[in-house]
Amino acid sequence: MELSARLCGLWALLLGFAGGGGAAPTETQPPVTNLSVSVKNLCTVIWTWNPPERASPNCSLWYFSHFGNKQDKKIASETHRSKEVPLNEEICLQVRSQCSTNESDDRSSWVKKCILPPEGDPESAVTKLQCVWHNLSYMKCTWLPGRNTSPDTNYTLYYWYSSLEKILQCENICREGQHISCSFTLDKGKDSSLNQHSVQVMVKDNAGKIRPSFNIVRLISHVQPDPPQIKSLFIQHGDLYVLGKNPQNFLSRCLSYQVEVNNTQTGTSYVLNVDEPKCDNSESKGNLEGTICFLVHGVLPDTLNTVRMRVKTNKICYEDDKLWSDWSAVMNIGKKTNSTLYITMLLIIPVIVASAIIVLLLYLKRLKIIIFPPIPDPGKIFKEMFGDQNDDTLHWKKYDIYEKQAKEETDSIVLIENLKKTSQ
Ligand SMILES: *[C@@H]1O[C@H](CO)[C@@H](O)[C@H](O)[C@H]1NC(C)=O
Ligand SMILES: *[C@@H]1O[C@H](CO)[C@@H](O)[C@H](O)[C@H]1NC(C)=O
Ligand SMILES: *[C@@H]1O[C@H](CO)[C@@H](O)[C@H](O)[C@H]1NC(C)=O
Ligand SMILES: *[C@@H]1O[C@H](CO)[C@@H](O)[C@H](O)[C@H]1NC(C)=O
Ligand SMILES: *[C@@H]1O[C@H](CO)[C@@H](O)[C@H](O)[C@H]1NC(C)=O
Ligand SMILES: *[C@@H]1O[C@H](CO)[C@@H](O)[C@H](O)[C@H]1NC(C)=O
Repeated sequence: MELSARLCGLWALLLGFAGGGGAAPTETQPPVTNLSVSVKNLCTVIWTWNPPERASPNCSLWYFSHFGNKQDKKIASETHRSKEVPLNEEICLQVRSQCSTNESDDRSSWVKKCILPPEGDPESAVTKLQCVWHNLSYMKCTWLPGRNTSPDTNYTLYYWYSSLEKILQCENICREGQHISCSFTLDKGKDSSLNQHSVQVMVKDNAGKIRPSFNIVRLISHVQPDPPQIKSLFIQHGDLYVLGKNPQNFLSRCLSYQVEVNNTQTGTSYVLNVDEPKCDNSESKGNLEGTICFLVHGVLPDTLNTVRMRVKTNKICYEDDKLWSDWSAVMNIGKKTNSTLYITMLLIIPVIVASAIIVLLLYLKRLKIIIFPPIPDPGKIFKEMFGDQNDDTLHWKKYDIYEKQAKEETDSIVLIENLKKTSQ
């Protein structure tokens, strides 16, 4: 204690010397006491301290603090300071007391307190821990396993944000190839001030073998909207009008748009980037609210055009403008002289015709007989003559017999009649 007090004195002397001999010698303040640090939630770090002992009674105390490399300097009268910090690295706060809000007035020596990263092998911690807020309705976080990890590690993700009373665990852990992901509901609808806040995220394993990883996701960035919808298309004077609908939860002024028009016949692709969707056309102007309109010039109306679009957040409402939504469903306009369709039709029609013929052949035995007339077989005739009865010949034989019988009967009737005549 004594030594440090002496050092402080020396420090003040040096400062006074460096000051170049001002009118009043700068009075050195005693340093703050009991600087301590603690963590709340997942990564809200709170530093607190007590006022210096034996402070000059004429001094109205101010505290000047900053992090690590003189970042986030702050002069305030409170005896605490907090910050949301991903605890993956050491973070230190330095505080001193002074009697004015002027940075260079008389001041105390610095007091420093650090918070260390969690224990464990840094190589075991998960990497690339990132989260995206989809549609302002759910958060999806993904990460890669650390290098020194066994492949059967069971991960857990914990999250916290301002309107939650306690830390929650994410339930739906999925593996997607190399990546592991987890999604949880985070609905903007419930809390309109949510945009100003962040979500604190921590990933560790159930067994406590890997070092926990942290991330702080600012909710004003990492927002991915749902795709927009194309409602209708029409061509007028060579201009294509694309009418669409914004994704839910997003206003037009907060989005940038991309409209893609592919001409299937010429094989050309045209991409239109739009910040303000509007058409100077009476037909589209009078449309329902919430309809967005785009105008694409020089579209060939007598060929098939394939249209789709997508959106991303812009810098007016959000912090980043990199995350495109998925593409909307495709909509077509123009004459459908689709060559592939033509070829498929060319292939399909003969197949249909051929199968129809086969069906006809199968069902109409007569047709079969006409097309393939039975060839007379001399062997068969011989067999018949020698009384060899097989199924085919039986019918004919029976017929012969029946015919013969009929003839005999008629003969006998005639004979009887003749007999009757003669007897009369
Ligand atoms: C520092 O903390 C100790 C114990 O908590 C307390 O006795 C002491 O009064 C504190 N110092 C100041 C200047 O408040
Ligand atoms: C504090 O201010 C009063 C009056 O302004 C003065 O008389 C006194 O000497 C000052 N004390 C110190 C320690 O500067
Ligand atoms: C702070 O102090 C410096 C010199 O000590 C002086 O030049 C400057 O004007 C002061 N600033 C304020 C805001 O009082
Ligand atoms: C987008 O969010 C809204 C409400 O916030 C919800 O009704 C809708 O189902 C969400 N869309 C998808 C694809 O989840
Ligand atoms: C992960 O969980 C599975 C099933 O619960 C278990 O068989 C496996 O041993 C666990 N892995 C580790 C590293 O604990
Ligand atoms: C339009 O053409 C581009 C470039 O050839 C291609 O990348 C894109 O997939 C096409 N779009 C559709 C909907 O097929």
